[in-house]
Amino acid sequence: MTKTLRVAVIGAGRMGADHIQRLNTRIHGAEVAAVVDVDFSRAQAAIEGIPGAVALADADEALNNGDVNAVLVATPGFLHEDILLRALARDIPILCEKPLTPDAETAWRVVQAEQTLGHQRIQVGFMRRFDAEYAALGKIIRDSELGELLMLHHQHRNPTTPAGFTNEMLINDSVVHEFDAIRYFTGEEITSVQVRLGKATRNAPGGQHDPQHVLIETESGVLADVEIYVNARFGYEVATQASFEDGIVSIGGDNGPFTRSNGRWGGTVTPGFEERFGAAYDVEIQSWVDAALRGEIGGPTAWDGYATAACCEAGVEAQKNGKKVAVKLNAKPDLYR
Ligand SMILES: NC(=O)c1ccc[n+]([C@@H]2O[C@H](COP(=O)([O-])OP(=O)(O)OC[C@H]3O[C@@H](n4cnc5c(N)ncnc54)[C@H](O)[C@@H]3O)[C@@H](O)[C@H]2O)c1
Repeated sequence: MTKTLRVAVIGAGRMGADHIQRLNTRIHGAEVAAVVDVDFSRAQAAIEGIPGAVALADADEALNNGDVNAVLVATPGFLHEDILLRALARDIPILCEKPLTPDAETAWRVVQAEQTLGHQRIQVGFMRRFDAEYAALGKIIRDSELGELLMLHHQHRNPTTPAGFTNEMLINDSVVHEFDAIRYFTGEEITSVQVRLGKATRNAPGGQHDPQHVLIETESGVLADVEIYVNARFGYEVATQASFEDGIVSIGGDNGPFTRSNGRWGGTVTPGFEERFGAAYDVEIQSWVDAALRGEIGGPTAWDGYATAACCEAGVEAQKNGKKVAVKLNAKPDLYR
């Protein structure tokens, strides 16, 4: 049995470089064996100080390398399908950063390839499930501590967006996390998505309507709404308020230290997702490694990746037509039941 994952990280950009540091310094049972980036200088920079790691410019070289027995995919989403199908053919553990793929058709092809393999190999990087507050709210819901969950109110606010962040990316790159969170909290599929475009901020770049109000329904009729506001200027905030029959639970507010001094009070607003979810990424990757060493996966599945891709498709259609759009899903294969 494998004692250590020898991981090839494909894509050494913002997320990949962060995961490489994590694997190298904080994660037990895994080592960085190879780093692949089409920008070879990035791959070289990323392996600096990591004994035994090689820099490569092509994913196939890593997948054919006998020293590699696991893969972490952190390239842009439109490249995921190809790498995932090749890694599945090698039948090795895979951590794929979200999204699984950018659309339901390609995501379904990945699900079918895994089904053909006959066992689960892909864990998708929806890290919020590993955040301590998300996990605590999830437990309150599952244990029915406050009766039935009725509604979820989400705020997803970024300070600004990088150049080229399109209107569709508000759904595909940002609200995709809420789609997964809502499915995780409720244990149900999302049945419909509607997007309301109201008054927009003057701070949004051309072609982007910001903020947007996304209305979501689940199978049992839980209603969820998301304020996605990506040029909110003040800092980063991902928060949820859950309404139950017997109480209200809020998660995601800024934590202390709160300081009172010189007649004023205050604290620091979380600047970005690395600070907000840094610990969750650690738990996520450790869970992947521990499960992979047992021959299992330790988090969201390829089915979760497919289902959220279908939600995103409905969301982008809803952005355009303003209507309530049904989420279309194929039947769930037995492998994911
Ligand atoms: N879970 C999260 O919170 C979170 C946050 C940010 C990004 N992401 C996801 O992580 C992935 C990467 O995003 P990012 O922000 O790091 O992007 P990035 O652009 O910073 O990095 C992508 C890297 O992939 C490299 N690359 C491109 N084509 C390649 C190829 N064919 N082979 C090898 N390398 C190639 C690029 O040169 C670049 O270094 C995306 O899927 C994104 O959605 C997830």
